[in-house]
Amino acid sequence: MGLFRIKHNNFEEIFDTEWFDTMHPHEWEGEATGEGHNRLNDQGWENRYDYEASLIINLIKENPNIKNVLELGSGPGVLSQKIQEECKNLNYHLVDKPFAEQYFNDNNFKGTFFVKDLSCEFDTKDLLDKYDLVITNDFLEHVLNPSIIVQTIYKLTNKNSFYFISNPNWRMAHQWVYRGLFDFDNFIYFLYTHKFEMEGFYGSILKTPEYPKISSETLLPDENLNDWNHYMLFKQRK
Ligand SMILES: C[S@@+](CC[C@H](N)C(=O)[O-])C[C@H]1O[C@@H](n2cnc3c(N)ncnc32)[C@H](O)[C@@H]1O
Repeated sequence: MGLFRIKHNNFEEIFDTEWFDTMHPHEWEGEATGEGHNRLNDQGWENRYDYEASLIINLIKENPNIKNVLELGSGPGVLSQKIQEECKNLNYHLVDKPFAEQYFNDNNFKGTFFVKDLSCEFDTKDLLDKYDLVITNDFLEHVLNPSIIVQTIYKLTNKNSFYFISNPNWRMAHQWVYRGLFDFDNFIYFLYTHKFEMEGFYGSILKTPEYPKISSETLLPDENLNDWNHYMLFKQRK
């Protein structure tokens, strides 16, 4: 039911298109939906957040002008806590759904949490006019209008701001609305059409199953082919 199959020469991709998580409010609800916050206790996730935090902390230490940070699709905010532990004076804003906010509040996390539905629009009410750093980790592929998100991030940044993205590798069998948009070359192109240019790239500590390189990955170094996700740093195009 709802399975969409694509046969390649030597492997097959199977997509479950039955539902898309962005269209329901229950994400992070806990045990009720079976998709709650259990994964936050998983050592693999912990290691991943540590690694992501180390990349972002280095960036902030190298650029002490970074004060105002906006993280979209933050989930309950585990990454944000690791960053703020090291970088004490940040003004850190997070945006996600209601159950993520509940976990954030229950754990007395530091920062300011905003509940917004970012699937088709981005209402910037209550946010700052400009941020020095915007983070979207494994988020853009979840929304129905990633373009409006990136257009709005452009407005919320300036020439000195950084935009840090974790982009999942298709080899980790993600659920996609826009299959192909997040292939490495296409994603960089998509950001370029939204006036952002890639300034930095970092591999992942987690690995996917092995699949051959495809034609929309010419810019992806061979050693990063099986990275679970790709960490990319963008700035507004000069
Ligand atoms: C794969 S998770 C990534 C969470 C976190 N950034 C991380 O790396 O662990 C995608 C996040 O996007 C959020 N999200 C999905 N659709 C959304 C929407 N329509 N509005 C706001 N947040 C949304 C989810 O609640 C979830 O926290």
